Amino acid sequence: MGSVRWAFPCAAWRPRREEWLLAARLVQPEEKDRIGQFVFARDAKAALAGRLLIRKLIAEKLHIPWNEICLQRTSKGKPFLANNMSSTCSNYNFNVSHQGDYAVLAAEPELQVGIDIMKTSLPGSSSIPNFFRIMKRQFTEAEWGVIKSMNNEWMQLDMFYRHWALKESFLKAIGVGIGFNLQRIEFNVSPLQLEIGKVYQETKLLLDGDEEEWTFEETRLDDNHHVAVALGKQEEYRQNHSHNFPLNLIASTCNSQEGPIISIRYDLNSPQC
Ligand SMILES: CC(C)(COP(=O)(O)OP(=O)(O)OC[C@H]1O[C@@H](n2cnc3c(N)ncnc32)[C@H](O)[C@@H]1OP(=O)(O)O)[C@@H](O)C(=O)NCCC(=O)NCCS
Repeated sequence: MGSVRWAFPCAAWRPRREEWLLAARLVQPEEKDRIGQFVFARDAKAALAGRLLIRKLIAEKLHIPWNEICLQRTSKGKPFLANNMSSTCSNYNFNVSHQGDYAVLAAEPELQVGIDIMKTSLPGSSSIPNFFRIMKRQFTEAEWGVIKSMNNEWMQLDMFYRHWALKESFLKAIGVGIGFNLQRIEFNVSPLQLEIGKVYQETKLLLDGDEEEWTFEETRLDDNHHVAVALGKQEEYRQNHSHNFPLNLIASTCNSQEGPIISIRYDLNSPQC
């Protein structure tokens, strides 16, 4: 049981009908019903991939048979494992995100964890400056200063989505969902440019003006997908993990026993030493 970071390229996943039906049978009935209500196939695929990633994680890391896994949600919607677990496994935390071309998962044996992926894309019906005006309250003055300091509108949009992923990762780690006053959390991002495939942990969080003991792991999966992972309980984390770790992006074909539909798995090697 260690840290896990997975990214599954769900947009490129083209299940045949029988694969889709099999995959849908592998999640709990209420999730199958929920996924069946999505209007767009891409959203259904992404949500199903997220559920399958969670079940794959639990089956592999906690050795619970696939058909005995029981997932529930908190009142705010955060999924958790409801099976009775021994005390060694009871703190195992996980979270998923699906947006753009990927479904991603992060899991930690001890730390609180939240993950968010954002794809940088042009706003549907408005210009970038107008979009920023609509979104003004999502970020603090200092954060807007950094976003707007970027060289051109596309880079500003990219920095906007990087901040967005960071905020969401924190909200998802603490599990609060909508309704949190976003002006209370401010990110001081560093470095400004992220290379594809590297993992960074330099960005700091201020909560109500005070620096918080949280770690934010940032990765650019490709030109336009940012992933942020929020990790709580920083003190224990520091004792146990190195801060200089390389990211290995490994595309490996999954053993069919590991999960029938996940044909490609990307392991983002997380802080393990
Ligand atoms: C679910 C929520 C927490 C994140 O949604 P999102 O970013 O649109 O979606 P993501 O793909 O990143 O994550 C969705 C997954 O997170 C998990 N999730 C749902 N509610 C959650 C919660 N309260 N906390 C943590 N994880 C949650 C679920 O696994 C969900 O997937 P599923 O419903 O298909 O099973 C959203 O409801 C929300 O409230 N976001 C905060 C809104 C906000 O103010 N954002 C501004 C940021 S600048």
